[in-house]
Amino acid sequence: MKGEILAQLQAADVVSGESLSQLLGVSRVAVWKHIRQLQELGYEIEASSKGYRLRSAPDAPFPWVFGQRAAQVHYFPETSSTMDIAMEMARQGCPNFTIVVAERQTKGRGRLQRSWHSERGGLYFTMVLRPRMPLALAPLINLAASVDLAMTLDALYGIQARLKWPNDVLVEGRKLAGILSQMAAETDRIEYVNVGIGVNVHNDTSQVDPPAISTARLTSEPVSRAEILAHFWERFERRLATGRWSDVVAEWKSRSATLGLFVRVQTLYELYEGRAVDVENNGGLILEKADGTRMTIVYGDCFHP
Ligand code: BTN
Repeated sequence: MKGEILAQLQAADVVSGESLSQLLGVSRVAVWKHIRQLQELGYEIEASSKGYRLRSAPDAPFPWVFGQRAAQVHYFPETSSTMDIAMEMARQGCPNFTIVVAERQTKGRGRLQRSWHSERGGLYFTMVLRPRMPLALAPLINLAASVDLAMTLDALYGIQARLKWPNDVLVEGRKLAGILSQMAAETDRIEYVNVGIGVNVHNDTSQVDPPAISTARLTSEPVSRAEILAHFWERFERRLATGRWSDVVAEWKSRSATLGLFVRVQTLYELYEGRAVDVENNGGLILEKADGTRMTIVYGDCFHP
């Protein structure tokens, strides 16, 4: 209903309560209640004897902003972590590309048990995916998400981000976005992969350690969280539908900030050091150690010098 009211207000200068109630098939009081709720959510809607006029809209990833996909978006003003809600929904059988998005998270988490600063102004969401692909290729989903996020920021704002293995999006060595995923699988069948993405957009990153940077700081254009999510979603969904996983590694490598560097890689149990020389077809990082031998790491966190 809110989406329909906003569409009417966006299409005309002023719309009367009477015509809204007729168009939407609800009472004028119901229209007025929705207008009040929209105002509380930050929409500047002026009411006069002629009707309602939309003056400005907040930059928030409300479900109705995503048009026909609105029903797939579950929006929370505050939550512990979108990963927790997505996990619950995935277990209960929610469809492919269900999105859980939060204005802020009180227990946002990052890779390897770290916390993720989730103040207001950032974009925090988890996508529940049910991809049909061999289990061995599952790490490519994260690589693909980081490539598509970098492409999104470039297409929208001309930001040239680089990728730190496996899936950090960096600018000037500082973190612009991070990706965390959780998967459930049976034998060789992926039941779901929940891909959680945090993008620094308008939020203050000055206190974040290791150093981070926000989208708004990198461009003079107005940036929009809803626009970033919508653009990324479309791109990523298209990629998953085509199933062209062979392109992902090449696209990732062309944006890599890791290859060629002497790095440390922390896995859950070990710390490895070596030169990052290549990425395998399944997304694993190939390290060349001091003794010249090579090893592949499939899951871990990488530290640049
Ligand atoms: C990392 O770089 O360590 C991964 C960060 C992932 C953060 C996102 S924000 C949305 C989703 N919910 C979380 O608690 N974490 C992910």
